[in-house]
Amino acid sequence: MSLSELSRSVDGYVVLVTGAASGMGEATAKLFASEGARVAAVDVNEEGLQRVVSDIEAAGKPVRGWTLDLTDADAIKRVTDEIAAHFGGLDMLINNAGISIFSPIDGEEYEPAWDMTLNVLLTAHTRTIRAALPYLRQSKNPRIVNIASTEGLGATKFGSPYTAAKHGVIGLTRSLAVELGPEGITVNCICPGPIRTGMTEAIPEDQKQTYAHRRVALKRYAEPEEVAHGTLNFCLPASGFMTGAALPVDGGLTIKNA
Ligand code: NAI
Repeated sequence: MSLSELSRSVDGYVVLVTGAASGMGEATAKLFASEGARVAAVDVNEEGLQRVVSDIEAAGKPVRGWTLDLTDADAIKRVTDEIAAHFGGLDMLINNAGISIFSPIDGEEYEPAWDMTLNVLLTAHTRTIRAALPYLRQSKNPRIVNIASTEGLGATKFGSPYTAAKHGVIGLTRSLAVELGPEGITVNCICPGPIRTGMTEAIPEDQKQTYAHRRVALKRYAEPEEVAHGTLNFCLPASGFMTGAALPVDGGLTIKNA
C-alpha cells in the first residue's frame, strides 16, 4: 500500500467568496482562511463585510474585502480583475450570495421578485464565472463551487422564482462541468438544507424545530460551517476528479420519505 500523494490543502490558493458578509459565505471565507487560502471576500453589505474581514485579519490571515452588488455586471468584471491583480491570480470561485423572496405566481410583486431572484441567484453566477475564467485557466487548482439548495432538487410552494433559479444553478453547474472539464476546471454545486443563517433568522425557533423534526433525518438545522466544509472538499487538489456533482448537505432531507 502506498500512502496518498494527493494534497488535502488549499494553502496559498486564492479564493473569491461571494456573499461573504453573512451566513454560509462568512463561514466559507473563515474556513478557507483558517486553511491557509488567501481570501477575497465580496458582498453588497459593506458593514457586514468589514466585520468579517476584521475577524479574519485578527486571526492573522490574508484577506481583503470588496463591496460589490452582484446585479451590476460591469462591477463584477471590474472587481474580479482587481482581486486577481491584488493577489496575483485567482484559483477558486465560490458563488454563494443569495436572497429569498417568496410570492404566489399571481401575486402583485411576482415580476420584480422573479427578476431580482434570477438576477442574483443565477445570472450573477454566469457573470462571475465569465469574469473569473481567464484567471482560473492560469491556475494549478481551478475550482468553481456554486451554492444551490435542496430547492434545486424539490420545491416549496410560493417559492417558484427561488426554486427555478436553484434548479438553474444545478443545470448551469452540470453544463459548465462538461464544457470546462477538458481544461481541468471542476464545477460542482452544493444543495444545503435548512441552515442557521441570516436568510432563516426570521423563522421562529419553534417553527424551525417542528420543520426539522418532521423533514430532516438528523432532526435539526445545521450551522453554516457544516456547509463550508462541503465546499472546501470540492476545492481540494485531491478532489480533482469530482465534477458536475450536486451534493446535498441537508441532514438527509432529500432522501427522507417518512
Ligand atoms: P445570508 O442572508 O446569511 O447571506 C447571504 C449574503 O448574500 C448576504 O451577506 C447578502 O448581503 C449577500 N447578497 C445578497 N444579495 C447580494 C448582491 N446583490 N450582491 C452581493 N451580495 C449579495 O444567507 P445564507 O443562507 O448564508 O445564503 C447563502 C446561500 O445559501 C444563498 O445562495 C442561499 O440561497 C443558499 N441557501 C441557504 C439555505 C439556508 O437555509 N439558509 C438553504 C439552501 C441554500
